[in-house]
Amino acid sequence: MERKEHWENVFSTKTEMEVSWYQKYPKTSVDFITALHLPLEARIIDIGGGDSYLMDALLDLGFTNLTLLDISAKAIERIKSRLGDRASKVTFIVSDILDFMPKEQYDIWHDRACFHFLTKANEVEKYSKIVSQAVANDGKLFMGTFSDAGPKKCSGLEISQYNMESLRFVFERDFELSGCFTEAHQTPFDTIQDFLFCGFKRK
Ligand SMILES: C[S@@+](CC[C@H](N)C(=O)[O-])C[C@H]1O[C@@H](n2cnc3c(N)ncnc32)[C@H](O)[C@@H]1O
Repeated sequence: MERKEHWENVFSTKTEMEVSWYQKYPKTSVDFITALHLPLEARIIDIGGGDSYLMDALLDLGFTNLTLLDISAKAIERIKSRLGDRASKVTFIVSDILDFMPKEQYDIWHDRACFHFLTKANEVEKYSKIVSQAVANDGKLFMGTFSDAGPKKCSGLEISQYNMESLRFVFERDFELSGCFTEAHQTPFDTIQDFLFCGFKRK
């Protein structure tokens, strides 16, 4: 099954509580973003945001320049419907990240559990080039992937696990690692998935 077809199928057939990555409140991501003390006009993009609650949380905090990119039109339809009138405050982009041609630059690039689906070296290289084009001077990167103690698959697809060194290696040409930590994510099925989160700043 093609990548897009896979994700359209997931968001057409499963409820939010039927997917392992569900979080009622994305505290780790919100904490990273708020700790930067950026102005509310900061340009923030969430890659593979799906219908997660990050946009809701950032709108609640007053952020005004939000973009969500996802390969699945169905996921975007779902989050738009949940946000209602507030959806007009978010820019939505339906695209495979590897086809994304950024038209503007972002102060924060956030990715929780999207990048790790890119398992081929040329895909990882392409992603890192797109990040380099899209992130502004002084911009920050916050990446969440499965750690090397985490699952080997997500949504039935192969993923690449990372540790601090291997994630640093992907982005080190243009980004300096600020820090990493692992986190045990509790799925709606009461299983645990070990995530690695790393923050980077532009060199
Ligand atoms: C595991 S879910 C994580 C969703 C969200 N980031 C969260 O934390 O709840 C992966 C998301 O990435 C999207 N995705 C997967 N591959 C993608 C790609 N190549 N380009 C853009 N989005 C992609 C999927 O549609 C899905 O919404």
